[in-house]
Amino acid sequence: MENLTLTQLLLDWYNLNGRDLPWRHKGGAHPNPYAVAVSEIMLQQTTVNTVKSYFEKFIEHFPSVYDLAQATEDEVYQYWQGLGYYSRARSLHKTAQMVVTQYGGKFPQTRAEVSKLKGFGTYTIASFLALAYNLPETVIDGNVMRIMCRLHHWTEPLEKIQEEIKQAATRLTSATQAADYASAIMDLGATVCTPKKPLCSVCPWQKFCQSTYADDVEQIPQRLKLAKKEFNGYVYLVFNSAGKVLIRKRTEKGLLHGLYEFPWSEKHDLYTDVHNCNCEVSHIFTHIKMKLQLLTVKSENAGDGVFVPLAKLEQYPMSTLMKKVQRKYKI
Ligand code: ADE
Repeated sequence: MENLTLTQLLLDWYNLNGRDLPWRHKGGAHPNPYAVAVSEIMLQQTTVNTVKSYFEKFIEHFPSVYDLAQATEDEVYQYWQGLGYYSRARSLHKTAQMVVTQYGGKFPQTRAEVSKLKGFGTYTIASFLALAYNLPETVIDGNVMRIMCRLHHWTEPLEKIQEEIKQAATRLTSATQAADYASAIMDLGATVCTPKKPLCSVCPWQKFCQSTYADDVEQIPQRLKLAKKEFNGYVYLVFNSAGKVLIRKRTEKGLLHGLYEFPWSEKHDLYTDVHNCNCEVSHIFTHIKMKLQLLTVKSENAGDGVFVPLAKLEQYPMSTLMKKVQRKYKI
């Protein structure tokens, strides 16, 4: 199979069928690398549909890299609230400050420099350079891996054929239309070569793909099976006599650093005299399934936290898990 033919077929397909997305610029490099950086960092662990509204509100509030660099951390969190994985918000904020102080407000264009920005891992470096500057970088995410495995009918677990996948994806990348090619392969994975019920009949690669209409297409790619860890604990809604609720700011380094939370613990040991609401919230972080029982308590002791009126809770950025606690308790 001829790589150039496949590349051209995909670009032609994209031209007619590519999605219109708020951060997208069809037909070459995006005129605003800042918008590419914001969208790519938002899209790291969040779906396109969720990112759409967040991206637009974020860009409206922080229209340029200067606006973001000057914002406070709490303000950035406020516009990230609900997207989860808050370390991304901190990284993006730091990146904006680095671009302003080190590069005079213009995003760098080399792999070496971009890889020093915060929040830019292998995938984001490639997608950023391709989309913002039309550089021939190869994006490889779960969608691209699935497409490559199906194209070649590779049935070994993904984890064992990373190098073959990388080479296959690199050979297909357009040298001159890398921005459109990166968007095109993402769209092919999202709308045609989907995990379940792929639409082989409308695929631009159907004549060349080794898995077209194959019975086992949904089983490709295979993965090594890893068990998820479970974490069970308790979350406390502590009310004082004025009806305010206790929250505290997370100070530990890590994913949720700087966000607010209701007190919680693994053992039932933070308070005595609790009321068990007989309900729980659960949330899956990258590889841990968290399950928290909801308990209410009356106390005047704020410890290292602060009592806030329920009507003002919105002003304190919280993780998705803690938002679920609020919804469950209807506050
Ligand atoms: N996933 C990661 N980056 C993306 C983009 N630019 N468009 C659609 N999906 C994406």
